Amino acid sequence: MRSSKTEVNAGYGVEIRTDIILGDSKEKLKLLEENSVDLIVTSPPYADQRKNTYGGIRPEKYVEWFLPVSKQLLRVLKPTGTFVLNIKEKVVQGERSTYVMELILEMRKQGWLWTEEFIWHKKNCYPGKWPNRFRDAWERLLQFNKDRKFNMYQDEVMVPTGEWAKTRLKNLSETDMVRDNSKVGSGFGKKIANWVEREKAYPTNVLHLATECNNKNHSAAFPHELPEWFIKLFTKEKDTVLDPFMGSGTTLFVANRMRRNSIGIDIVPEYVNMVRKELLPVELYLFEKEPEYEKVKPKKRS
Ligand SMILES: C[S@@+](CC[C@H](N)C(=O)[O-])C[C@H]1O[C@@H](n2cnc3c(N)ncnc32)[C@H](O)[C@@H]1O
Repeated sequence: MRSSKTEVNAGYGVEIRTDIILGDSKEKLKLLEENSVDLIVTSPPYADQRKNTYGGIRPEKYVEWFLPVSKQLLRVLKPTGTFVLNIKEKVVQGERSTYVMELILEMRKQGWLWTEEFIWHKKNCYPGKWPNRFRDAWERLLQFNKDRKFNMYQDEVMVPTGEWAKTRLKNLSETDMVRDNSKVGSGFGKKIANWVEREKAYPTNVLHLATECNNKNHSAAFPHELPEWFIKLFTKEKDTVLDPFMGSGTTLFVANRMRRNSIGIDIVPEYVNMVRKELLPVELYLFEKEPEYEKVKPKKRS
């Protein structure tokens, strides 16, 4: 059946909301409606770090401290939503702490699915020498979900196939021409020939991003590209993004620019005031109307 397209170009105004809340996330999250958030992206205070700016939590108390917050996050997230937690365990007496691993296990007991772990490779990490380890150049981005079926817009984060494709796809073997099923019986398979002539491919689960060096307003701001990538991957325009440890508001600024509603919570009044000065509670954006398709009755065959 054929259909003819009548495009309506006129735009329409939509309100994009930004809520900035001062206080302890554990309590303030209770004010949010259940199943109301599409994406949570956050970087909570790491154990024992930044004691002088906003206090630190002892590594052995970290899980106990975080669980009431994740309980609320589980309540406010929609079943189709995703929670991305940026975290990295610190070194205590020459050993990596295990609180992140313990937290994952406890969050699973709480009802979360631990879907994936992305790695943030910090491209511009400063050099150094330590007696028993090398410089730390990555952090975890843990992905949790409520349900196995969640919204994911993979095409939004596709990357150019790049130079490797020119050499790898030039001389294809016989195996490359057919579907090569996994030797370990995972049920997955690949057909390399499918990628010839394609200009874009899906990315890996490693994000290569420089750390934020220019944010003078916060000691631990993450780069804009970090929330941006997850907002593209897991939300659409007009969806709602939450950062319960907002800091300088990176997640909210990016969400607002990308026309997503956002909610930010922070316990430090200076951070809250700073973000409130920059972001209006409601902004009116002009959206292009989705094209309308007019159905045409199929002609009867004679
Ligand atoms: C690592 S920083 C987040 C930085 C943020 N991603 C940015 O780009 O600026 C963690 C933030 O959590 C806030 N915080 C610490 N404990 C909190 C709590 N119990 N409730 C809400 N915010 C808290 C701190 O004030 C700090 O700004």
